[in-house]
Amino acid sequence: MSHRPPSGLAAVSAALLAMNRHLEMRDVLKTIVASARELLDAEYAALGVPDDHGGFAQFVVDGVSDEQWKAIGPLPRQHGILAAMLHEAKPQRLADVRKDPRFEGWPDAHPDMSDFLGLPIQDGDETIGALFLANKRCPRPTGGCGFTEEDEELLEILAQHAAIALTNARLYERSRELTIAEERSRLAHELHDAVSQKLFSLRLTAQAAAALVDRDPVRAKGELQQVATLAGEAVDELRAAVVELRPAALDEDGLVATLRTQVQVLDRAHSARVTFTSAGVRALPAAQEEAMLRVAQEALHNALRHSGAGQVDVSLARSTTTAVLRITDDGCGFDPDVVRRAGRHLGLVSMRHRAGGVGGRLVVDSEPGTGTTIQMEVPCG
Ligand SMILES: Nc1ncnc2c1ncn2[C@@H]1O[C@H](COP(=O)(O)OP(=O)(O)OP(=O)(O)O)[C@@H](O)[C@H]1O
Ligand SMILES: [Mg+2]
Repeated sequence: MSHRPPSGLAAVSAALLAMNRHLEMRDVLKTIVASARELLDAEYAALGVPDDHGGFAQFVVDGVSDEQWKAIGPLPRQHGILAAMLHEAKPQRLADVRKDPRFEGWPDAHPDMSDFLGLPIQDGDETIGALFLANKRCPRPTGGCGFTEEDEELLEILAQHAAIALTNARLYERSRELTIAEERSRLAHELHDAVSQKLFSLRLTAQAAAALVDRDPVRAKGELQQVATLAGEAVDELRAAVVELRPAALDEDGLVATLRTQVQVLDRAHSARVTFTSAGVRALPAAQEEAMLRVAQEALHNALRHSGAGQVDVSLARSTTTAVLRITDDGCGFDPDVVRRAGRHLGLVSMRHRAGGVGGRLVVDSEPGTGTTIQMEVPCG
């Protein structure tokens, strides 16, 4: 049975639909190349996406076996006719590619090609690839059919659709990269908020134990038990950060009780006096409670670590439309603009991120010499 290329509108339409069914760049390219080869009845087809270094970021072929492909060796560079298609952005229809003055030879294992049709794939003014075919199948035993003007027009249509499919695939890859970057940043914030604070307390407690070990072994033993507890909690927090669980205490006790307990612990552990008051706050949605707890923890941590305050107050209050968390210290204060510009610190960025993430906002009120108030406000119904 003689081979006949699929033809007509239905075949073209099938090829175009196939191109747009895939989102992964490589699958898109493979479909384009296979469709082009089939529709134009060529022995070989290829598509190259150039990189910025004179080579190809992607190069997909159809009509060459895997063994042959391996034997050919490294990917081609942008030279000869390939370069002409990419840089001059013009179609190339040649009766015999080997006789063209720009032809620079092939690697040993490269299949022999004669008639050639190549087109740039363009997105606006930018050439984003080149699509090309070689050796049109020929019913005449003597060969020499070559690609026709009609073939060129058909390939032109394919190249235009290939541009759309390629651009979509690029956007898809970009959006997937963004999702991964967001996930990485969430994890970084989470680790910073929960785990680094636990480790900080752990280090303090271990230092206290070391200082006590000779003088007061019994108390040192108590501190060491505390070290073990904190280490266990750090492990739990780490696990929670990775699978995005809520801190266990919130589920069991709710936000008000959890905050009160944590404040009491800090009050005992630090020389500063740390207080907690709450007014009229019933349970909030889980995500808001968690965000509030994380913001309170970071603000407390900053106040105790950076401000030298004698007094730190935490309050949680509810009006008809909002719930407001406030952490105030009477310490040294700082210039929020300078810190923001410095860009190295994660704590303030993370607090803002958390407030925004639950539809709320964060206000940082501080200046050198005046103490600091961090306020987080979330809407509530
Ligand atoms: N309550 C505060 N009183 C005084 N200075 C503060 C206070 N809160 C923050 N700062 C200043 O702002 C800086 C940034 O705080 P931020 O929490 O963003 O980062 P950090 O605490 O330095 O490091 P980390 O990323 O571990 O939180 C601190 O280094 C400190 O100089
Ligand atoms: Mg901090």
